[in-house]
Amino acid sequence: MSFQHPSFGSVADNRVFIFDTTLRDGEQSPGFSMNIGEKLRMAHALSALGVDVIEAGFPVASEGDFESVRQIAENVDGSVICALARSGGRDIEAAGEALKKAKRGRIHNFISTSPLHMKYKLRMSPERVLELIESGNKQARHYTDDVEWSAEDGSRTEPDFLCRCVETAIRHGATTINIPDTVGFATPEEMRALFSMLRERVPGADQVIFSTHNHNDLGLAVGNTLAAVEGGARQIECTINGIGERAGNAALEEIVMALKTRHDRYGMTTGIETPRLLSISRLLATITGFDVQPNKAIVGRNAFAHESGIHQDGILKHAGTYEIMTPESVGWNSTSLVLGKHSGRAAFRDKLESLGYGDITDELVNVAFQRFKDLADQKKVVFDDDVRALVDEEARDHDRIKLQFLELQGGTAHKAHVLLGLEVDGVVQEAQSDGNGPVDAAFRAICQAFPHKATLALFSVANVTEGTDAQAKTTVRLQEDGRLVDGQGSDADTVVSAVRAYIHALNKLLVKRQRSAPEALKV
Ligand code: KIV
Ligand code: ZN
Repeated sequence: MSFQHPSFGSVADNRVFIFDTTLRDGEQSPGFSMNIGEKLRMAHALSALGVDVIEAGFPVASEGDFESVRQIAENVDGSVICALARSGGRDIEAAGEALKKAKRGRIHNFISTSPLHMKYKLRMSPERVLELIESGNKQARHYTDDVEWSAEDGSRTEPDFLCRCVETAIRHGATTINIPDTVGFATPEEMRALFSMLRERVPGADQVIFSTHNHNDLGLAVGNTLAAVEGGARQIECTINGIGERAGNAALEEIVMALKTRHDRYGMTTGIETPRLLSISRLLATITGFDVQPNKAIVGRNAFAHESGIHQDGILKHAGTYEIMTPESVGWNSTSLVLGKHSGRAAFRDKLESLGYGDITDELVNVAFQRFKDLADQKKVVFDDDVRALVDEEARDHDRIKLQFLELQGGTAHKAHVLLGLEVDGVVQEAQSDGNGPVDAAFRAICQAFPHKATLALFSVANVTEGTDAQAKTTVRLQEDGRLVDGQGSDADTVVSAVRAYIHALNKLLVKRQRSAPEALKV
């Protein structure tokens, strides 16, 4: 079976489209907000990864969301750019407006269809919901031919009513039909059966792409996604590192590698360049301040580490004994030793390309190269993870607060004392403070240079690589009026890394202050 899709043309039956919602469903979870510059950087990396659709945001939610969707639509090629909208209200108009400059734009309109949501959340009758499905899809088609419709809480919707909703959406212009497991309640067998049922029963089902969107409340998001593919879904909605509401969404890297590694079972292909998976996972972790757990599949630090003697012996004899995919296939390099102080700009550029940073600007390469040189002066060898940490940090443009300088005194003979300069909106503010140790003194000085009422909720330090000259990677969590943000910083000097992390968190707080969406808009 093959048919013409408005954005993808002729669609082969074994092609699975990857719809990434890191910048929308992922970004709306607590502590994961990103500013426009960070979203743009992620969007470029997603496009280079080969993602088919990037859900860039929810334009009606706030001016910041509108602007980031608009800028991604204008600047990011290669992927379809999608904007979320509720069926009804101003949402679809805002989405259409934000997507105006997209080469290929999609409007994703949704409404709840389960008895519980219709009665308590929407306070609408099923008939009213059907009317809104009709008007929403018709309205979206005024802006683009590529229209997706979602049945929120679809997995808990009565099958007969779900069939009527899907039929209505198709009849009025939807070209992709998404059935979310919004609360992560379904089981794999239910998912497979749900998609088979819809494809069998709904008129026009063979003229649309069915899509699956799974939350991870019971840890079943990836399993449910794969089961949906077996039931006939050909679009997968997922996020990098599985970030998202509550327990998160299905993890892109896990699904893609499951489809690839078990091609024998699923027989499906995606357009994802899997060697880029690790670098985009790291990029997101740096931007959001949330590292993935060490045992996370595919991108966790231990995902390819073999500790037990029996496993190591097996691996040395034949890698296939304990490895079902190669580390290189997802971006882990077999040699992690990289550059030293004599390495030049060309070698640095080459290294950036091999780590998946081929698309960064010359300006950013120059700044990162300078920091690399400083680091190479302090450390004998610079590892891949060091390079990633410093490039990702320098990539955070649009920051309103930047560290200008830091001088400190401490040890056994002197009380810790810090003198520091911050550039705040282009103006340098100096401050100095004593403290109980250099980190305490530095944080006090930041509070003087940039007064704020946020409080410190978490402070943790880890090493980026091994050895006493390793860079420190610090996470700082700040809390203000119920908002929570995490910042990260890295440097061979632990205090500098802590200060960078604090400043990163402050910058994220400033973004959050600008964009508190009304409660009603939360999806
Ligand atoms: O989980 C969900 O139901 C959603 C929809 C808005 C697609 O994120
Ligand atoms: Zn969701």
